[in-house]
Amino acid sequence: MPNWKEKIDKERLPKHIAIIMDGNGRWARKHDKPRVFGHQNGVTAVRNAAEAAAELGVDYLTLYAFSTENWNRPKKEVNALMELLVKTINSETDTLLKNKIKLNSIGDISEMPQDCYDELKIAIDRTADNDRMTLNLALNYSGRWDITQAGRRIAQDVKDGVMNPEDITDEKFNDYLDTTGMPDVELLIRTSGEQRISNFLLWQVAYAELYFTPKLWPEFTKEDLHEAIVNFQCRERRFGKTSEQLTESRKCE
Ligand code: IPE
Ligand code: IPE
Ligand code: MG
Repeated sequence: MPNWKEKIDKERLPKHIAIIMDGNGRWARKHDKPRVFGHQNGVTAVRNAAEAAAELGVDYLTLYAFSTENWNRPKKEVNALMELLVKTINSETDTLLKNKIKLNSIGDISEMPQDCYDELKIAIDRTADNDRMTLNLALNYSGRWDITQAGRRIAQDVKDGVMNPEDITDEKFNDYLDTTGMPDVELLIRTSGEQRISNFLLWQVAYAELYFTPKLWPEFTKEDLHEAIVNFQCRERRFGKTSEQLTESRKCE
């Protein structure tokens, strides 16, 4: 296996990586275990991805942990996921502090179970002064929800006379999204072989490079993240221009 980390150009890291962590259930089935076992083993992959991204110097890592659609799963699985979340946030906060990672959440967390909400708030507060990397957990999140809540708040501001309709620009809209203050997603990774966005960050992935891997989430390692970044750096990001107009050269074999 190539040493992917060595091949990464530290000067051209994606500033914002987002991951759709998929395949926990299939991983569990592969091991003849209940789905919850897959979620439990997914925690190791979360820790590895966060550590690997922070070690490299990525500014933002956003992980899709629970979508608004995931409430439609069997109650038993939803409860187990919430329990796991509480337990994990509680046990991992010290590691986040050690690694100087700031925890943040996107999504409507007010609708999460109370203990989940409380645990999350404590961890967010405790890690608020960390500045190495922001780890964004998308919880009760969906891209359409985000765009809708932004639209609603903009409409309110116009109604209140704080803003004029002509002030609503691309940039201004960004300020109202739950990812306010963060750069656009540059690299979007999805594990498990599925090739869809599943209502994740819709606005924010407008020009992201999409990377799909057949690996199931609990199997995803630091090296896999390194490989995805190398793959990202090998791509020509034209943003509508022609190849000839680009000054930056790709670093690839
Ligand atoms: C992703 O794994 C974790 C969550 C959505 C919470 P899945 O639970 O979706 O696993 P598969 O897709 O059924 O294998
Ligand atoms: C997307 O995975 C949501 C998360 C990873 C949290 P799903 O497994 O819920 O997505 P679909 O149902 O395959 O689109
Ligand atoms: Mg899935």
